Amino acid sequence: AKRVRIHHLRELKERGEPWPMLTAYDMYTAELFDEAGIPVLLVGDSASNNVYGYESSLPVTVDELVPLVRAVTRSVKRSLVVADLPFGSYQLSPEQALATSVRMMKEGRAHAVKLEGGRAFAPHVQAITQAGVPVMGHIGFTPQSEHNLGGYRVQGRGDAGDELVEDALALQEAGAFSVVMEMVPAEAAKRVTHELAIPTIGIGAGPDCDAQVLVWQDMMGLRRGKGPRFVKRYADLAGVMSGAVEQFAAEVRGRQFPAPEHVFH
Ligand code: KIV
Ligand code: NA
Repeated sequence: AKRVRIHHLRELKERGEPWPMLTAYDMYTAELFDEAGIPVLLVGDSASNNVYGYESSLPVTVDELVPLVRAVTRSVKRSLVVADLPFGSYQLSPEQALATSVRMMKEGRAHAVKLEGGRAFAPHVQAITQAGVPVMGHIGFTPQSEHNLGGYRVQGRGDAGDELVEDALALQEAGAFSVVMEMVPAEAAKRVTHELAIPTIGIGAGPDCDAQVLVWQDMMGLRRGKGPRFVKRYADLAGVMSGAVEQFAAEVRGRQFPAPEHVFH
């Protein structure tokens, strides 16, 4: 199996073939998603909530993300692995953005990096891509700016749709190989997708993006509770796992486990 490269994603866009992307933070999920043919895996800063148990994506650090990136890159044969740059690790300057990207590439062996922000981050994207590292952009609702955006809200409604297009074009111009759009109206996402030569990846951005991404614990139903509207649950992992753990506990308490076939003599 050949590795997925950034030009393959551009070819899929040109052929009008939408493609799936998922987050991954460890070996088993990375192996499984790679074998299922998911072209791009993202080690998201969503690990902050979904692995480390923080209350938002803000607290997670580069030191915490790097080992997860390394686990995922060790475990794939084909998928292109993108490492998210966490809050505070790139906003200070293009130089800081490049330094953090270098860590993700050298220590995490990532194949690309991702950062949040539009026009204001074009210089950061340019510094990284000029050093030879592919960059995925992320616009619309950007969770690292949650407090400035006033919480989880749809971005790019009405006239803000023009700004979304300008942000996307600036990122493309700066050398980004793709752009995530999170929680934007489908109409605005469609416009951006048509204006850009590089692929757009939607999450809560409607059906016209070139790709769709979901956080794996959300789409597998491992995270409980009512998730955001853009999540579709394809499985009930929380149900499967709590059933298994209850049965195990009951069988130990009832002396049904271990059974003869599990025992050495
Ligand atoms: O961190 C993350 O999981 C993300 C995706 C939702 C795009 O940024
Ligand atoms: Na992220």
